[in-house]
Amino acid sequence: MTAIAIVYHSGYGHTQRQAEAVAEGVNAVPGAKALLVPVAEAEANEAALNAADAIIFGAPTYMGSVSAPFKTFMDWSSKAWFGQAWKDKLAAGFTNSASQSGDKFNTLVQLATYAAQHGMLWVSLGLLPGNNNSKGSPDDLNRLGGFLGALAQSNADEGPDKGPSRSDLATARHLGQRVAEQAKLRGTLKQAA
Ligand SMILES: Cc1cc2nc3c(=O)[nH]c(=O)nc-3n(C[C@H](O)[C@H](O)[C@H](O)COP(=O)(O)O)c2cc1C
Repeated sequence: MTAIAIVYHSGYGHTQRQAEAVAEGVNAVPGAKALLVPVAEAEANEAALNAADAIIFGAPTYMGSVSAPFKTFMDWSSKAWFGQAWKDKLAAGFTNSASQSGDKFNTLVQLATYAAQHGMLWVSLGLLPGNNNSKGSPDDLNRLGGFLGALAQSNADEGPDKGPSRSDLATARHLGQRVAEQAKLRGTLKQAA
């Protein structure tokens, strides 16, 4: 079994929907299983995080960076960092915010830098940008045009029943599936070695 942990924070439920879509993508890969871990439950899931083949990190963009509860999780994980417990695991990231940009890129850079501190191997989104030419549409996969991870946008005046959009959730599913496929492949290679 390929175990993929998804550690996320969501203040108002929008990023949680994105996290659930990432989990759907993971679970679509035969032999892979997603474990959704809200940051408040990270400590209780410490052993599972250390045992996971990959960890996908997700946070809403608040004030142009990861939310404070997610940063608390990052600092808590310095214990794993000391022992390099997550070294060579796959990592990836996603973020959601109200504005189309909203400085989400900075949040992904923060997540990728954090993964590098742990010695993890970053998996990019692996999609060409959508919605960037005359034939494009907001329904396109990767409509917000990210490369480093999965981006989503949720209107500030609507609840998580309305946003992120279907295309953003499909983009999140793609990321989960991509990480699970790569983690599974690495498991097969390790077994063969
Ligand atoms: C404290 C705070 C700061 C925010 N800062 C940003 C921001 O920098 N950029 C942006 O586009 N949206 C910003 N937002 C909007 C949230 O990113 C947006 O509402 C998001 O959908 C919340 O996700 P959640 O429901 O998972 O918490 C902010 C919201 C809050 C509460």
